[in-house]
Amino acid sequence: MKDYRSAERCQGIEISGIRKLFEAAGPDSINMGLGQPDFDTPDHIKEAAIRAIREGKTGYTSNMGIPELREAISEKFQKENGLSYPPDRIIVTAGASEALHIVMHALIDPGDRVLFADPGFVSYGSLAILAGGRPEGVSLNNSLCIDVEKAKEQMDGARLFVLNSPGNPTGAVEPEESIRALVEYGNDAGVTIVSDEVYEHFIYQGTHRSAALYGEDVVTVNAASKTYAMTGWRLGYLAGPKEYVEQSLKVHQYAQACATSIAQYAAVSAYTGPQDCVAVMREEYRWRRDYLYGELKKMGFSFPLPGGAFYMFAPLGESLTEKIIRRGVIIVPGAAFGCNAPGYARMNYAVARDSLRKAVERIRAAREEG
Ligand SMILES: Cc1ncc(COP(=O)(O)O)c(C=O)c1O
Repeated sequence: MKDYRSAERCQGIEISGIRKLFEAAGPDSINMGLGQPDFDTPDHIKEAAIRAIREGKTGYTSNMGIPELREAISEKFQKENGLSYPPDRIIVTAGASEALHIVMHALIDPGDRVLFADPGFVSYGSLAILAGGRPEGVSLNNSLCIDVEKAKEQMDGARLFVLNSPGNPTGAVEPEESIRALVEYGNDAGVTIVSDEVYEHFIYQGTHRSAALYGEDVVTVNAASKTYAMTGWRLGYLAGPKEYVEQSLKVHQYAQACATSIAQYAAVSAYTGPQDCVAVMREEYRWRRDYLYGELKKMGFSFPLPGGAFYMFAPLGESLTEKIIRRGVIIVPGAAFGCNAPGYARMNYAVARDSLRKAVERIRAAREEG
């Protein structure tokens, strides 16, 4: 038989367990598994895309992204984050996923250590391996935030630290002093910080602080995906020091050429248009967070109230998590996010209120089943 040989670094990674759960879900299931908003993309953004199609703006764009979008993102950085990234230091990508991918390829040499929170976003470890690096989890404290002192010990000799606040899967918002300490210590130790800020607008207490405020050796990654309910449009970006942008652009150019032209025109409207849609989503997520947290508390679970994103990461226990999934509520076991939290599960509460109420009833029934 023919030996279909594939690269070891590919064989060494798994398809995300979350996708598998999603694909195995029955028709009556409530999907609290995938990391996406249940809202539709706001109309003015869709209209901009339709206009772009009608006007024939359907060819390749510049590799970096259309100038008007990079200009809009540059202004967004200034206004919302207090960061000065000129348009020539911004690359528009196919979602934050591609931005993470290209920056890792641009910066990681074989065997370089790549640090990120464990539990943490599923892609970081696999992307690090694909880029030839060695992923390494950093543990969290009781507030589900990064244990800064332990992280510092691991930083010596590492190449990258991926910081994600608000965080997936925990919903934790890192305190400003932690972000500052991680960036300052990391940069002094020669560690580049990749700051994944895709949930920056979904913060329910406190304010978002961009890592790049505290050091120069920082690459900021963000996307329209979560902020504007645009996950399927595949529109993200990175911004950072000129040298990194130049190297990342090479990877982007050969792997992707450019982000989808239509999505780029839609994103101009997202970043320059009315922002009240974001506040509406945030306030709805806040209601759902408070409701779900309150119900889980009533059931006897004790864990920190997540300050951001649209995830609740709760210590449900492995066997209850299985029972809940069997009852048709798709939630994600903590083992999908690393080694440190197998007894936890992630619940995405970006689902409609009715579904959330039904999910709570099923969770309660699973718990009472004993
Ligand atoms: C922390 C984090 N970063 C990046 C991404 C990927 O975002 P995008 O859909 O823009 O590729 C996700 C998606 O779930 C995420 O949770």
